[in-house]
Amino acid sequence: MTNVLFIVSECAPLVKTGGLADVAGALPKALADHGVHVRVLLPGYRTVLAQVQTSKVVAEHSDLFGGPAKILAVKIADLDLLILDAPHLYNRDGAIYGDATGSDWSDNPERFAALCKVGASIAADGIDGWRPDVVHGHDWQAGLTPEYMRGTNTTVPFVFTIHNIAFHGNAPAEKLATLGLDPSRFKSDNFEFWGQISALKAGLIGADRINTVSQTYAEELLTPDFGIGMDGVLRSRQADLSGIVNGIDLSEWNPETDRNIKPFKAPTGKAANKQALRKTFKLGASSGPLCVLVSRLTEQKGIDLLLDALPVLLDNGGQLALLGSGDPKLEVALAKAAENHKNLSVKIGYDEALSHQMMAGGDAILVPSRFEPCGLTQLYGLRYGTVPVVALTGGLADTVINASPAALARKVATGIQFFPINAQALSNAFVRLIDVFADKKMWRVLQRNGMKQPVGWKASSQAYKDIYDTLTEAKHS
Ligand code: ADP
Ligand code: GLC
Repeated sequence: MTNVLFIVSECAPLVKTGGLADVAGALPKALADHGVHVRVLLPGYRTVLAQVQTSKVVAEHSDLFGGPAKILAVKIADLDLLILDAPHLYNRDGAIYGDATGSDWSDNPERFAALCKVGASIAADGIDGWRPDVVHGHDWQAGLTPEYMRGTNTTVPFVFTIHNIAFHGNAPAEKLATLGLDPSRFKSDNFEFWGQISALKAGLIGADRINTVSQTYAEELLTPDFGIGMDGVLRSRQADLSGIVNGIDLSEWNPETDRNIKPFKAPTGKAANKQALRKTFKLGASSGPLCVLVSRLTEQKGIDLLLDALPVLLDNGGQLALLGSGDPKLEVALAKAAENHKNLSVKIGYDEALSHQMMAGGDAILVPSRFEPCGLTQLYGLRYGTVPVVALTGGLADTVINASPAALARKVATGIQFFPINAQALSNAFVRLIDVFADKKMWRVLQRNGMKQPVGWKASSQAYKDIYDTLTEAKHS
């Protein structure tokens, strides 16, 4: 049995803003099949504590960055959680990273440093009679862990997974003392980044192994365009960097058993769901493909490119049902576009059940991201016979087989990819989509190929286990 401590800022089904939560919720269950026992250290946000019915206090801190804290051991949804209950840091109105207006909490450096500090003390001393063999941190919120581990005598290895390099977790240099960081390490070859403390960089420098969530993104990260200032650090750590593509939770995303939809086994079974989806989105009948899109609405996700390219889809019988929330400017632009086109319907908000219905009822799923470390919605699409139309980048490049003439002739395609990532190429992809959709036989081939593709965690959880094994064996040899 290998014991692994996950340090992560969100975890499905308890608290989620994006795919990070899905990974933190699903990977521990998949690792259990390989004899790995994961305990997930998670902040005790108000919404998380509200879901806790029974818990055991397994540790206490009298002063954790300005207030007392407890660690609660909790079992929920097959997850073994260690919840950091620190009311002064996490018990507040608003969202998990910011207030109701969308501004980050000014004490985010302390909020997530606290998580790292507690993670480091668990690495050093164990907790509840349990000791991790490996600490596995996710994204910048876990980045300071190795800095705090240095202050202990632990030799437990630290694995760092980058889910999205765009978030650096910077804090002003004045917070060095408050955060209890070693000022002699505030240097450019360490966690200093353009005059600020970078939690992400601390993680990249301090990790024994670094990985990200697809092989293509691992390569992209080494370039200035994608590395967003961290490409140099990553090049210096290239020997320890790898890419492991995400999977999806097949017990949550299974069209044969999904409670949110009219279950189906073969693509023909999607028809009833398509009808229901048109009704939900108030879309009329149309000859072209019914596309769906479920996403955070941000610059990353290429929604502006989509707005420019949409007329080609909508004016040729295609339709789009879109669910998302995020940047108010994009929300307004989408709502306005929907007013002007009967084939476009937009719902602003976050709705898990509806996202399942969209996968079940859609013909195609759009993911026009400018960059995408892995992306999960194209994987749901594949599983539900909803053909992905994606930008050729990151995990979208690794999980979809483009309907090129050769791939169509050999009947191996699963979707449509476009490149370069701009509105013109996306418009061309819509033309190809409409053509392939019109060829009913070929369309079925794409759907069936996708539905057969392994998109679960089997292979990737083994790859994580291999990393843990390498590190623990190296330690003992
Ligand atoms: P990212 O983590 O960059 O947001 P991913 O594709 O990895 O992108 O994961 C996004 C996750 O969040 C998916 O599970 C997706 O279904 C979900 N999601 C995003 N927006 C919404 C929404 N408005 N309603 C329901 N689920 C959403
Ligand atoms: C990030 C990325 C997304 C990835 C997810 C889970 O939020 O933007 O591409 O799928 O993390 O790893």
